[in-house]
Amino acid sequence: MRIAIIPGDGIGKEVTAEAVKVLHSVGQKFGRAFDVEHLPWSADHYLQTNETLPANGYDLLREFDAVFIGALGDPRVPDNRHARDILLGTRFELDLYVNYRPVKLLDERLCPLKGRAPKDVNFVVFRENTEGVYVNVGGRFKPNTPDEVAIQEEINTYKGVHRIVRHAFEYAKASGLTKVCMADKSNAMTQGHALWQRVFKELTPQYPGITATHYYIDALAMYMVLDPGQFEVIVTNNLFGDIVTDLAATFQGGLGMAASGNIHPGKTSMFEPVHGSAPRFAGKNIANPIGAIGSMALLLETLGAKQEAAAIDAAVLKAVSENQITSDVGGTLGTREAGDFIANAVRG
Ligand SMILES: NC(=O)c1ccc[n+]([C@@H]2O[C@H](COP(=O)([O-])OP(=O)(O)OC[C@H]3O[C@@H](n4cnc5c(N)ncnc54)[C@H](O)[C@@H]3O)[C@@H](O)[C@H]2O)c1
Repeated sequence: MRIAIIPGDGIGKEVTAEAVKVLHSVGQKFGRAFDVEHLPWSADHYLQTNETLPANGYDLLREFDAVFIGALGDPRVPDNRHARDILLGTRFELDLYVNYRPVKLLDERLCPLKGRAPKDVNFVVFRENTEGVYVNVGGRFKPNTPDEVAIQEEINTYKGVHRIVRHAFEYAKASGLTKVCMADKSNAMTQGHALWQRVFKELTPQYPGITATHYYIDALAMYMVLDPGQFEVIVTNNLFGDIVTDLAATFQGGLGMAASGNIHPGKTSMFEPVHGSAPRFAGKNIANPIGAIGSMALLLETLGAKQEAAAIDAAVLKAVSENQITSDVGGTLGTREAGDFIANAVRG
């Protein structure tokens, strides 16, 4: 397996080091070598070279089996242009239309919801990752005047909506799950989200073993808090998915715990913790590496290394159960020490 590693900025570098440590540890355990190549693309690289990524950057990434990114964002680059090119650019150029966000509570004490245990918080969110309001279509008329008009378009295509909704149903079927919930705002966004309604109704009869439900996104946010146990698979658009997955991360213990995949099934995909570069935490050895380590497990799982992924998940569970974790989730370890514990636990 050839894996491109982009540690990026801030705590991205620190959590990536731990994820790579755990990757090598799982490699040792299963007698498997991973060919890991570090790419320097980051704010530092941009400030030194004026290049966000090389002209052939996306082609270069396509040569790998998978890409891992730590986090991107740096106050020295106020418009975060490097982050946009590297992160959003990779999602769009590699057509990574599935944003995969498992939401799994590992221990009751990490959940801010009263009385909720791991059995109540165990679902996945599929966020459409290549369309919606993130396509940057629009413009400003009479900018910086009292008459300013700002237009930001939301793009929904039949192909784009169909492939993400189908992916959610297929995932449920393959995983033995029986509930898929689609969330939109079709009562207010009567054009674009009518398309989501059409596609969901078109696909539902093709999955007779699956109960398909629909919530408006505001109701979904409410029910996620009131009764998260009712969800198995949620599918929604780019913006709503962005918001509800951060909400869902709090159920798991916060942004430091949340892992994600940006996937085009069968093609080079990219994996990253959900959190950003947290500049205030950078260089202090306090960032939680679990979101990054979990993202490495998702990478392995997606490439078919199921045993290796399961060994990492089990080691993370052990770390949480034994409170061998960082301070954001109630432990006392530093980033490196938490990574060491998990790497050792993987070896068994
Ligand atoms: N995917 C990405 O690379 C990504 C995602 C979000 C934000 N960003 C960028 O990161 C920079 C900082 O953004 P932000 O402050 O809004 O979000 P952030 O996720 O970096 O940090 C928000 C807060 O969450 C907590 N946190 C996040 N990760 C943590 C971890 N691993 N361990 C412990 N606590 C953690 C901290 O309290 C932190 O102050 C910005 O430049 C932003 O654009 C990048």
